[in-house]
Amino acid sequence: MIKKLKEGIYNVGAVDFERTLFDEIVPLPQGTSYNAYLVMGKDKTALIDTVEPDMAGELFKNLDELGVDRIDYVVSNHAEQDHSGSIPLVLERFPGARVVTNKKCMAFEQDLLHMPEEVFTVIDEGDEIDLGGRTLTFVMTKWVHWPETMTTILKEDRVAFTCDFFGSHVATSHVFAEQCDRTFIEAKRYYAEIMMPFRATIVKNIEKVEQFAPAIIAPSHGPAFSEPSAIINAYKEWVGPGTKNEALVLYTSMHGSTRKMVDALVNDLAQRGVGVRSRDMVTSDFGEVAIDLVDLTTLIIATPTMLAGPHPKAVYAAYLANALRPKLQLVGVIGSFGWGGKTVDILKANMGNIRTEFLDPVLVKGLPRDEDYQRLEALADRVRAKHVELGVLK
Ligand code: FEO
Repeated sequence: MIKKLKEGIYNVGAVDFERTLFDEIVPLPQGTSYNAYLVMGKDKTALIDTVEPDMAGELFKNLDELGVDRIDYVVSNHAEQDHSGSIPLVLERFPGARVVTNKKCMAFEQDLLHMPEEVFTVIDEGDEIDLGGRTLTFVMTKWVHWPETMTTILKEDRVAFTCDFFGSHVATSHVFAEQCDRTFIEAKRYYAEIMMPFRATIVKNIEKVEQFAPAIIAPSHGPAFSEPSAIINAYKEWVGPGTKNEALVLYTSMHGSTRKMVDALVNDLAQRGVGVRSRDMVTSDFGEVAIDLVDLTTLIIATPTMLAGPHPKAVYAAYLANALRPKLQLVGVIGSFGWGGKTVDILKANMGNIRTEFLDPVLVKGLPRDEDYQRLEALADRVRAKHVELGVLK
């Protein structure tokens, strides 16, 4: 389907309502889209990004419907194949087109897509391309989540084509986010899953895009934003230093002992005014966990000991939290064991990036006894005290 942003500016990409998994790890509860933007000047036509190669038919169908018989420039903001993968097909169809990108992105595309150097026009920060009454300029917005990513600005119309930046995995017929309720929660999920580790860089990239006072932000996944301040402010909150009065207890339990501890701790925290929820690690969508991690203050991993260590799902949770580098202020481990093991050591070893207070673990032999419940109450006391100290709990 063709989505018109304004006269001469169209999203001619592909909407994938069916896709359920990205990168073989990221669940897509709302599907996704690969946005490719056609920008028509008086003299030249540019296509900004392309689509996942198996959706190229939809891109060409949209171009045919618009009667496009010439593309002068294919601007490539990012080399990952969901945006660059159809560039070779576009060049087959429009052999005169130049691929416009930065030097690093060109190098990636030479490796990933075997594209020859002679098809590229290499640009850098601030360079301009005149389409006739419309001018493209380029801003290097690196590390959102690859090192070569850039944003293309259409100066006269003040449209920022940001690729993954400000994107969301949402399949919708709507052009703009303001018409699509799911956009902001999915944008937060998208930020959490791929951008959160690069918060410091994202702060600078937001400033770089903001300096153009965009009237429209047009990412390459999900709807565009006709009121950019909303998504910019949301990003500022996510990358900012603050956390919320929230604790997450990620748990699994083999025979119910760890589960009893989880139930008690959740109740203890709630009674102390700490916002808390538990999630079963075995059945949870880890995208939801990633969303929680964006502004979470406290993470507790609750696991039984098996094979002399934590349940493998607990290791996965620790590894994921470590890789995403959230703003956590407290981390803890609780659980039940039968005869010993290295549960805490193994989980700690998987969370080396999380340099924050590690709560005294509460590990219990078998079913928890009264004294164990008292240890959980003490743990809840410490969580409350930390939340108060941080000012997230008044
Ligand atoms: Fe949507 Fe980093 O690719």
